[in-house]
Amino acid sequence: MAGKPSANTMKIAVLPGDGIGPEVVAQAVKVLEALQKTGLPIEMSEGLIGGAAYDAKGHPLPPETLSLAQEADAILFGAEGGFQYETLPRGLRPGDGLLGLRKSLDLYANFRPVCLLPELIGASTLKPEIVRGLDLVILRELTSGIYFGEPRGIGRTAGGEREGINTMRYRESEIERVARTAFRVARQRRKKVCSVDKANVLETMELWREVVERVHGEYRDVELTHLYVDAAAMSLVRNPAQFDVIVTGNLFGDILSDEAAMSCGSIGMLPSASFGEGTRGLYEPVHGCAPDIAGKDVANPLAAILSAALMLRYSFGLDDRARQIERAVRSVLAAGYRTVDIDEPGMRCVGTSEMGDAVVSAL
Ligand code: IPM
Ligand code: MN
Repeated sequence: MAGKPSANTMKIAVLPGDGIGPEVVAQAVKVLEALQKTGLPIEMSEGLIGGAAYDAKGHPLPPETLSLAQEADAILFGAEGGFQYETLPRGLRPGDGLLGLRKSLDLYANFRPVCLLPELIGASTLKPEIVRGLDLVILRELTSGIYFGEPRGIGRTAGGEREGINTMRYRESEIERVARTAFRVARQRRKKVCSVDKANVLETMELWREVVERVHGEYRDVELTHLYVDAAAMSLVRNPAQFDVIVTGNLFGDILSDEAAMSCGSIGMLPSASFGEGTRGLYEPVHGCAPDIAGKDVANPLAAILSAALMLRYSFGLDDRARQIERAVRSVLAAGYRTVDIDEPGMRCVGTSEMGDAVVSAL
């Protein structure tokens, strides 16, 4: 996960996608363009993904988008989905574009930092004394588990009743590599890993726990604890500040990261980064396409902007530039700018684009 020093050109594939994706990504692009003007050799190329790609090309991940992503040093993704696509056959739905991209690039480690900015303590749905100082990372396994396990589908039982099937599978090597990432990330932080599973009921998760324990042997300086996912869900609202790094499977990580997001005020604040073995990363806001508010200039662009900061830090090794963006975000929040999802009485509620402009001026 260590970033490499900035190369000659920084090739970024920009995939805005659907719903609020294009408008929030446009704000992150503004921020990157502002840095470009100060001399960063950024080169951005845009591609189609999700429903937008289906509409134009008949597939949510057209081959040209996949090559664009494969050739890039980093990918900035917005969101995908929309009501009109929900009845398309599996494989052609917008989400299949994103899942296909994660799988094709083998981006198995999804890093979701959940950090409460002190400016937003009042916007959290939890009491200030519970969320004060909250700074944890959910490390979600992203390319296996029940999301990808076979067999899957909707079939019929011998008696002719319709039956849906998905399969949760994890190979040892898949657990091992994400566990290693978790311990390495923890070493840079407070050296605590909590592995979340459901080993009391699921064999897959029994293996998960056993392998995480074994890998821990190589990282004895890191404290390892285990929680069942139901207890973890509870602890995340009871005492979230106890966590440093949470490592978990694909489905549990999906659910727990939405839950944890609320303690930061809004899911509109959460950036994410996904990695395989190299420094190439896929950076995306954790929120989805939000079709109900798309195109209305009300979506919070800060998750997308903070995702661009993660990109500079992890794919390009530019920690100072990442901090510059993070500081700019905090200063606009400190100045009272809010989008509607994090608004509070007495603050200045602005739209997507104005928030983007405010961050650019604060840079
Ligand atoms: C996420 C999203 C995706 C997921 C969907 C859109 C496929 O919810 O990135 O958390 O479930 O992984
Ligand atoms: Mn999700």
